[in-house]
Amino acid sequence: MDKFIIRGGKPLRGTIATGGSKNAALPILIASLLTDEPCVVRRVPRLRDIVTTLRLLEFLGKRVVQDNASVRIYSRKGLKTQAPYDLVKQMRASVLVVGPLLARFGGVRVPLPGGCAIGLRPIDLHLKGFEQMGAKVSLERGDAVMSARRLHAARIPLRFASVGATENLLMAASLLEGGTTIENAAREPEIADLAVFLRSMGAQIEGEGTRRICVRGRRVLRGAEHEVIADRIEAGTFLIACAATRGSVFLKGARPGHLRNVLKKLQEAGCKVQASSAGIGLSAAGRPDPVDITTQPYPGFPTDLQAPWMALMSLAKGQSMIRERIFEKRFLHAGELARLGARLSVDGDMVCTDGVGKFSGALVMASDIRAGAALLVAGLAAGGKTEISRVYHIDRGYEAVEKKLRRLGADIIRVKS
Ligand code: UD1
Repeated sequence: MDKFIIRGGKPLRGTIATGGSKNAALPILIASLLTDEPCVVRRVPRLRDIVTTLRLLEFLGKRVVQDNASVRIYSRKGLKTQAPYDLVKQMRASVLVVGPLLARFGGVRVPLPGGCAIGLRPIDLHLKGFEQMGAKVSLERGDAVMSARRLHAARIPLRFASVGATENLLMAASLLEGGTTIENAAREPEIADLAVFLRSMGAQIEGEGTRRICVRGRRVLRGAEHEVIADRIEAGTFLIACAATRGSVFLKGARPGHLRNVLKKLQEAGCKVQASSAGIGLSAAGRPDPVDITTQPYPGFPTDLQAPWMALMSLAKGQSMIRERIFEKRFLHAGELARLGARLSVDGDMVCTDGVGKFSGALVMASDIRAGAALLVAGLAAGGKTEISRVYHIDRGYEAVEKKLRRLGADIIRVKS
């Protein structure tokens, strides 16, 4: 298991390009299961979760050719409709194969998914939506088994605006000829990006990015080419790291419109933000002002930046509150931040931080992707040496992160072990 060794305390300075979005690339790659024609997806980040997705597609029967950031997906003979436990347990997004496979073949079996260790993460909304489309759902020895003689279009109100459920149902609906409406749909930019891809495959989709998505699908979809949007979470993490190290960076290609809430909070914390169609610039001079956040579905403050934000606020000139409203138990990083000197108290879904003047380096461990990102932010800001273990979590979500940080002047190395 690799480690990162950081000698912190150096301001991040310079320009880097923002990578393609992991969370947009995953469903788009999986949507290739909707057709037998070739699909080409560009600007795919090189990440562990992408490797897992490509292995899953290959297991199910696709041929995958990867050339730098482009992925070509071809059909071989038929497709399997059963996903393997060893891949699904590594990545929760594997459950997205259900929509395409159920709509195409009338049956699918997937183990209940794994992924980050961040509390209970059920898939009841996905399953209920497929039931509303006419599927029979049963749970057999830890697998979700679904079948439908013929899935039909439906009106599906989601109890909660789940990103995964919206994507899964959107993909299935794209193969159904009637009109499906997803009410209380998630509005994340990654969903809009998936809709663009499905539209180029032949589906008619309206309302992506709003609470109601209407889909009129087709029995047969064609192959399509697509370039994935920039990763707003990677961009947000680098901006927060820049704020924590009191640096000045420019992130080429980052989309300000996708990070409006985060940029507003960074400005409230005292950072100077310059946003344009070319990207986002940020500079920070002193300790941040304390700013409270509550995570919410898009366009609210993203849960995926809550952990890095906690690292930043632990250095603020006073107390701030962080409330996590999306996931249970997403505070595993709080204890690790405390090792670097953060003063935090956790109470249910809230954390109160009492900012300290500086962190000092320590041995810490990443417990999930974003907790790992928080430790990177903290380690970069800390005086002395920080050693982060279990960086495979960080590798799931951040492409070549140590190389990008080195380009911004950070002293960080990966130690293979
Ligand atoms: C996606 C993102 C993840 C992000 C999250 C919230 C991908 C690959 N991952 O995850 O990075 O943190 O959105 O923005 O895109 N829930 C249920 N039942 C369900 C589905 C979800 O109760 O059937 C709950 C979950 O337990 C969680 C909340 O809804 O508490 C949000 O989950 P969801 O929006 O589905 O997140 P993911 O799609 O898993």
